[in-house]
Amino acid sequence: MSQTHHPNKEHSLVEKGAIHYIEFIESVGVQNMDGEPRVALITGGARGIGNACVEHFTRKDYAVVFTDVSAEDGDHVAAAFAAQGRRVAFVPGDVSQEADCVHAVQAAVTRFGRLDVLVANAGVQTPGSLLDSTTEDWHHVLAVNLLGVVYVCKAALPVMIAQGAGAIVVVSSLNALRGFPGMAAYDASKAAVLAVVRDIAVEHGARGIRANAVCPGATLTDFHIRNAAKRGVSESALRDSTKGYGLLGRVAEPSEIAAVIGFLAGPDASFITGETLVADGGYSIIGARH
Ligand SMILES: NC(=O)c1ccc[n+]([C@@H]2O[C@H](COP(=O)([O-])OP(=O)(O)OC[C@H]3O[C@@H](n4cnc5c(N)ncnc54)[C@H](O)[C@@H]3O)[C@@H](O)[C@H]2O)c1
Repeated sequence: MSQTHHPNKEHSLVEKGAIHYIEFIESVGVQNMDGEPRVALITGGARGIGNACVEHFTRKDYAVVFTDVSAEDGDHVAAAFAAQGRRVAFVPGDVSQEADCVHAVQAAVTRFGRLDVLVANAGVQTPGSLLDSTTEDWHHVLAVNLLGVVYVCKAALPVMIAQGAGAIVVVSSLNALRGFPGMAAYDASKAAVLAVVRDIAVEHGARGIRANAVCPGATLTDFHIRNAAKRGVSESALRDSTKGYGLLGRVAEPSEIAAVIGFLAGPDASFITGETLVADGGYSIIGARH
């Protein structure tokens, strides 16, 4: 996952003027479901698991709006999907900025008329043990991984409440549930969003809104491949090094995590809410090795 944090404000549509989202929804109205495509908003969709979600949901005939802090990557990805005839729109934005989250939701409703699914995926990882990590590290990780989830959920919920339906999937991590050395702020941020998911589920279930979390184990994303390349390690050597992970003897492909997210967001999971689904190839059920 990304360790950098460089919002490209030049591309930010928010600078054209943020509108408060509740006023916005009242002014635009929310269309009914008849004949309309289902609409998904995915944060951090330019790369990794988020990108696999854009692929998954557009292939399932959703209209997809995705955000990313990297305007360059997002433009490139949106153009590639659009060239395949997929219904996709990119809105540059930084989830740690509430106005950007509000704007992304507004863009989804303006462009496609409703919002059925929110995938709160964008996340960063700043390594550091509890003793080593700085206050700045904690502020940065919590701003993206916790507040970024809070902001985009707060922006999406009024739309879903007005519709009387909606599904939220938050991408947490196995690190929320198990101890891993050297990842203190990240682990705390991923545990915190599980509480956010539960609270959304209990506060909005009666309004037809479901909220669930997925906790992926190690997933071979572009981030890992790029980092390995910087260390002179090829993708095939990286894959070899991950052999033996979990019970399946391998790490996840981003598409496998996107499929779990698609399940939790879709009609097959219509009676699942407030739940945390671990997708780690059995890694976490292995007993102690020593
Ligand atoms: N890859 C793994 O092994 C793994 C395991 C468990 C959980 N996760 C979680 O999955 C999610 C996606 O991770 P990934 O591995 O695909 O990472 P990645 O770095 O490959 O992709 C993350 C994407 O989010 C974007 N992004 C980063 N900060 C952002 C911000 N402030 N606002 C908007 N976009 C932003 C990045 O530009 C990038 O396109 C993260 O929440 C991560 O914690 C990943």
